[in-house]
Amino acid sequence: MTKKILAVYPGSFDPPTKGHLDIIIRASHLFPKIIIAVTKNINKKHIFSLQERIDLLQKITEKLKNVKISSFSGLLANYLENINSFVLIRGLRVLSDFEYEFQMALMNRKLNKKIETIFLMTDQSYTFLSSSMVKEIAMLGGNIKNFVPECVEKELKKRVANLSKSN
Ligand code: COA
Repeated sequence: MTKKILAVYPGSFDPPTKGHLDIIIRASHLFPKIIIAVTKNINKKHIFSLQERIDLLQKITEKLKNVKISSFSGLLANYLENINSFVLIRGLRVLSDFEYEFQMALMNRKLNKKIETIFLMTDQSYTFLSSSMVKEIAMLGGNIKNFVPECVEKELKKRVANLSKSN
């Protein structure tokens, strides 16, 4: 039986990169509806506010009609229960992602046994990419064009310029 699956792609997306977008586009071909669930990762210091990250994701996914952006706080497992979704999408870049992702997938299933995590292999051109690295390159004046969508590049450059003025 084919059920209408609502899949959730959670993350901090600070900022969203071309690697994230690649996963979103491919997931949008696999599932009838995707919610990108933006949250604060308590272990990370974010450069963009939650609303700014939502706005950026909205811009880069505007052509994908089955993709919606939302946000949550607290436990991901509770958020999924609240919106009645039990499918999580995560990207896997390199072997070192696996341990963390494996732990998170098992923990989410422990919290709610209905939750299944589906992993998509990142496109090989983005295996080395991370949001922190993009931020660092931008702060050091490097070219980030190949790593983030155009609107993200523009906003990140603005943010970095403001930060260096205030320091
Ligand atoms: N291509 C390129 N880079 C990618 C990528 C891809 N396909 N997928 C992920 N990344 C990078 C991101 O850029 C990011 O880089 P950074 O560490 O430098 O910021 C990193 O990989 C992972 O970021 P992201 O996918 O945005 O997720 P996250 O690890 O920040 O967030 C949550 C993880 C939000 C899902 C997790 O913290 C969570 O569930 N929080 C809610 C609280 C909770 O329930 N905790 C218990 C969990 S068991």
